Parts: sequence; C-alpha cells; structure tokens
Amino acid sequence: MALKYLEISGGRPLFGEIQIQGSKNAALPILASCILSEGTCRIGNCPAIQDVEDTLEIMRGLGCSVSRRGDAVWVDASGIRTWEIRAEQAARIRSSVLFLGALLGRFGEAVLPRPGGCAIGGRPIDLHQKALEQLGASFHGFGPIRAEAKKLKGSRIRLPFPSVGATENCVLACALAKGESWIENSAREPEIDELCAFLNRRGARIWRTDPGTLYIQGVSRLEPADWEISPDRIVAGTYLMAAACTGGSICVRGCSGEALAAVGKVFRQMGAEVWNQGNQWAVAVKGRLQGIPYLETRPYPGFPTDLQSPLMAALCVASGRSRIRETIFENRFSTAWELKKMGAEIWIQGNLACIEGVSRLKGDMVRATDLRGGAALVLAGLQAEGTTRIYGCEYIERGYEDICRDLGGAGARMRTKVTFGGDEK
Ligand code: EPZ
Repeated sequence: MALKYLEISGGRPLFGEIQIQGSKNAALPILASCILSEGTCRIGNCPAIQDVEDTLEIMRGLGCSVSRRGDAVWVDASGIRTWEIRAEQAARIRSSVLFLGALLGRFGEAVLPRPGGCAIGGRPIDLHQKALEQLGASFHGFGPIRAEAKKLKGSRIRLPFPSVGATENCVLACALAKGESWIENSAREPEIDELCAFLNRRGARIWRTDPGTLYIQGVSRLEPADWEISPDRIVAGTYLMAAACTGGSICVRGCSGEALAAVGKVFRQMGAEVWNQGNQWAVAVKGRLQGIPYLETRPYPGFPTDLQSPLMAALCVASGRSRIRETIFENRFSTAWELKKMGAEIWIQGNLACIEGVSRLKGDMVRATDLRGGAALVLAGLQAEGTTRIYGCEYIERGYEDICRDLGGAGARMRTKVTFGGDEK
C-alpha cells in the first residue's frame, strides 16, 4: 500500500518572493454560484487543489459541462438535469453545503449529503437551515439534506453568528429570490465580497449597507460572466509565517493591506519587520521572535482562525510565553500534540493554548489531521533541527496547490515521497 509523506530538512532561513495561488475560499462559493443560471462562466486563477477538483466533480455529476485549461476553468450550467447531488465528494468537503443555496435558487429543490470538511469542530449547518427557512425553504427528514421552496421570497435575516458559509448560502439563495433581502450580522471576509462582486457582474444586485449588512434585490436571471479569482490571503499569510519561523525574508503579492491587516499586526507584535505597499507584503526576521501574551482568533477583520495553527508553529520557538484563544472552532488545537512530539511546550485548556517558547524544535515523524494544521507542521519542520516527515499530507493538498514548489522556491529543502510497503520511491 502506497504511503505518501512530506520530507523536510530543517534549519535554513527562507528568502524570496512567492507567487500566491488563487483563493480556495473565494473559488469554492464562486464555482457553486455558477449553477444559479444557464450559460458558460470562465473562472481564471482557479487554484488546482483537491477541494476545487472535488467541487468540479460535484458539478459534473449535476450535469454541468466543466473543463480546465491551466488555471482557468469553464463551467456551463445549462445542462443541469437534477437537483440531487450524489457525488461522494460532497460528503468530503465543507463547501458542498453551498450547493444548497444555489440549487434552491435555481430549482426550488435540493438534495445533497451532509457536508464534510476538516475535523476542527462539529460544523453543524443549523444557521444555514434557519436562514433559508426564513426565505421560504422547508427541510425534510434526517440523513441527507432535503429542502424545497416553491419560490424563495426575500426577507430580513439576522445571523446569530457571522458564519461565512451561512452568509454565502444566503447570498446564493437571495440573488434570484423574489423581492429584497437583508443579511444582518453577515460575515465580512473578503471572499464574501468577491462572491458578491462576481454575482453583480452577472446582473445580481448586492451591496453592503453597512459593514455587517448585505442588501440583496432579487433579479429574474443572471448572465454568464468571466472572473479572475483573487490571491489566497491564508496561503499568503502561511508563507509569510514561514519567514517568521525560519528567520528569513519572504515577499508575497496580491493581498491588500486590509486583507492581511490583523496578520501584519501580529507579525509586528512578534518583533518581525513587516512591509506593506498596496498589495505587496514582506516579512523579515533577524534573531528570535517575541512571544504574544494573548491573542484571540476572531471573525474578519480579526485574526483569522485559519492562521491559528501556523502562528502556533512560529510561537513554539518565540521567546517567552504566548497564549492563543481559538474562538471560532471548538476543536482546532489538534496540531499541538504533533508539535509537542517535536519538542514544543504547549498546554491546552479548553479553547486556550499556552505556549512556552523553546530555542529549537527537533525533526520527527508527525501526522497532519487537517489542512491548516498540516501547513503548521510544514513550518515547524522548516525551522526544526534535522529531518521531519509529515504523513497525512493529502490534507495540505486540499488547500495548497504545491507547498513544496512554493517554499522550495524560497530555499526550503522539502519534497513529497511515496513508500510502497517500506521501500521509498
Ligand atoms: C469557512 O468555513 C472556511 N471554509 C473555513 O476555512 C474558515 O475557517 C471559516 O469559514 C471561518 O472563517 C470555506 O470557506 C470553504 P463558519 P465555514 O460557518 O463556512 C459554527 C480552511 O482551512 N457554525 O464561519 O464552515 C461552526 O461550527 C477552512 O480554509 C454553526 O454552529 O465556517 C464554527 O464553529 C477551515 N452552525 C463557526 O460557526 C452553522 O450553521 C464558524 O463557522 C454554521 C457554522
């Protein structure tokens, strides 16, 4: 049986500019939105990652014709012949739940498996369901999600929590609903506004009336349009964190000052030199990072939960004690146990992680159990003494096109290896 792992030889500072792939969390809702109406949309800078490939497979299963040439994907949703998703990929990824709003918007019916996604918490869909019910949808039975709505009617929805996915599902359902909708306490992540901008290019009428409220005027149809996905701010933040971890200097392009503002502030708190001009960012570190007395992950524009594990990897070798409170997901510290194998000193109390910086981590065999936790282990391996092997690297491929290519270009010594029953290839 083939066993794939990443092998990293640590201890070298990284230097260079890294080209950032298209945003996973912008591409996924934008692709799902293509099924709202007929016609062919061309989505450029679409990252070649497993979650996107799974999404394209789901769309093919619905009857869309989907093709990819390089980083561009063409989707023609004219041929959709069912509102039932049977593709097993839907039970693997979290973003399959976005087809709920899109199918209801197009057909008034939707049947799909309960979504999957990284095991970082329970990840229920109660907020999605309650919001869609307010638009006139009704849900039936247990097991797979079965929903119908004769005609979705606009409404004033107030989300109890600014859920990214629930906000996106509301946008997808309201775009073609009858009348006006307001989504109050909506998520403010840049990926939400990118989805709205793409829909507006197709003829939707969506804008923010205040930072936390989306106003949507339902329209009767959407025209096909082309779109270029923005660079991935979480991948950019991960690679800038690699400079912090290894004591080097990394530059990335494509993320606005606003998109990474909270992350830039944390780099400065750690004593890194941070430079931002327009959509160019650079982080340089000479000497040892300083610990962060206390930090909470927060909904955007706060510090993103998706960079909590990569930050933890950096703080493992910072001076002094750091504390991170994870306020978004209830089980997003699993990487701490792998980092402890490498010599990190971390204590977990509920949703609070306390990290006592050590001078150096030691390479070891570790296992990724979620996407961003896997990226954090890469950062740990890059700074550690000796060699680190990361199993479960398939998790990393869900969100990073080619982390070996990207960090290798900045001097990292890492590669993917496969063993077949013990002997390496
Ligand atoms: C999106 O997940 C992202 N995924 C996540 O990125 C990201 O971590 C998260 O938003 C928060 O920013 C995609 O965009 C594909 P939520 P989502 O709904 O929509 C609870 C990555 O690594 N909740 O904002 O699932 C939920 O359990 C991934 O790229 C409910 O209780 O996140 C969580 O605790 C990981 N009921 C919190 O809200 C619901 O109905 C935030 O979830 C929905 C959510």
